[in-house]
Amino acid sequence: MKNYLTQSFLDHAQVEIPLICGPMYPCSNPELVAAVSEAGGLGVVQPISLVFVHGYAFREGIQKIRSLTKKPVGLNIMVEKGVGDFFRRAVDWLDVALDEGVRFFITSLGDPRWVVEKVKRAGGIVYHDVTERRFAEKAVAAGVDGLILVNKAAGGHAGSLPSNELLSIMQEFGLPLVAAGGISTALGFKEELDAGHAAVQMGTRFIATHECSAGDAYKQAIVDAKAQDIVMTEKLSGVPAAVINTPYVKRVGTDVNPIEKFLLKDRNLKHLARMAYSAASLFSLKRSITKDNPYENYFQAGRSVEGIDAVESVAAVMGRFRQAIGG
Ligand SMILES: Cc1cc2nc3c(=O)[nH]c(=O)nc-3n(C[C@H](O)[C@H](O)[C@H](O)COP(=O)(O)O)c2cc1C
Repeated sequence: MKNYLTQSFLDHAQVEIPLICGPMYPCSNPELVAAVSEAGGLGVVQPISLVFVHGYAFREGIQKIRSLTKKPVGLNIMVEKGVGDFFRRAVDWLDVALDEGVRFFITSLGDPRWVVEKVKRAGGIVYHDVTERRFAEKAVAAGVDGLILVNKAAGGHAGSLPSNELLSIMQEFGLPLVAAGGISTALGFKEELDAGHAAVQMGTRFIATHECSAGDAYKQAIVDAKAQDIVMTEKLSGVPAAVINTPYVKRVGTDVNPIEKFLLKDRNLKHLARMAYSAASLFSLKRSITKDNPYENYFQAGRSVEGIDAVESVAAVMGRFRQAIGG
C-alpha cells in the first residue's frame, strides 16, 4: 500500500516505481542506469564511475544515458570539501547535470547545503544519505527533501544500524525516507514500504543483471554467495566496506595493519590517510570489473546477495518490483 510519503517520493523523482538503483562505484555504467529508469525506477549516476571507470567525459556520459532513455535519472554528489580535486569536479558535474536536465540528486558525506542551494534554484530535489541521527539533523537543516537510510546490511560503505531502527529514529523529520541495504526480493521491497519507507534503494541486485558491465565472475559470485559470505574490510578505503569473501579477501585479510590503523585514527593524519586510501581504493575497485577474477580482486556486495539467484535483465527484475506494489 502506498503511503503519502511514497507519493511524495514518486513526485520528487518523477518515476512510477518507488525504487532507486543506488550509485555504485565502479558498477554504475550508463546502460544500467538507463535501463532502471526506462523500466520505471530511478537509475542514479555515480560520476567518478562514469568518468574514471567507464571512460566518458561527464557531459558525454549523461548524453549517452539520455540517448538510451528519456525518463529521469539521478546524480550522486559527494559533498565533502576535503576530497581534493574530486570536490572541484563535483561542483562542475552538478552544473553540467543541471544543464542537461537532471533534477534529482543524492548527496553523501558532509554538509549538502551548497548542493541544495544550487539545485533548488533550478527547481530540483535533493535526498541525502544518512547512517545516524546527527547527520540527518544537519541535512534537514540544509533543506534536503528526503533521506536515504543506509543500514548495516548495505553494500558499499554500510551503516551501523538495522533498517527498522533507522526508520524509527528518522520518522520525526516528516520527510520521505528511503531504505537502503539488504533488499533484493519483491517481498523484501514490499515489507520495507509497508513498514513506512517511502521507497527502497538497491545496489547489489542490479550488479547481477545483463545491463551491468561487471564481469561474469563477479555476477556469478553474487548469485552463489549467501549473507554469511559477506565480510567487512577496512583494507579498501580505511573504513569498513562490504565485500564477498573471495579467495583474494581470504588471502589479504580484512584488517588494516597497526601502523595504518594509527594513521587512520590520528587526529592530524587521518584526513590525509583516508584520502590516500580512497585514491588507492578507486584503482583497486576499478580492477574489480576490468579484471574479473576472484583470486585477484574485491567484489563489493551487500547481504542482499541472499535473495539473488540468477543474472537477469533489468526489465525482469523491475517487473517483479512493479508487481509487488500492484502496478
Ligand atoms: C559495488 C557497490 C558500490 C557502491 N558504491 C557507492 C557509491 O559510490 N556511492 C554511494 O553513495 N553508494 C554506493 N553504494 C551503495 C548503494 O548505492 C546502495 O545504497 C547499496 O548498495 C544498498 O545496499 P544493497 O547492495 O544491499 O542493495 C555501493 C554499493 C555497491 C554494492
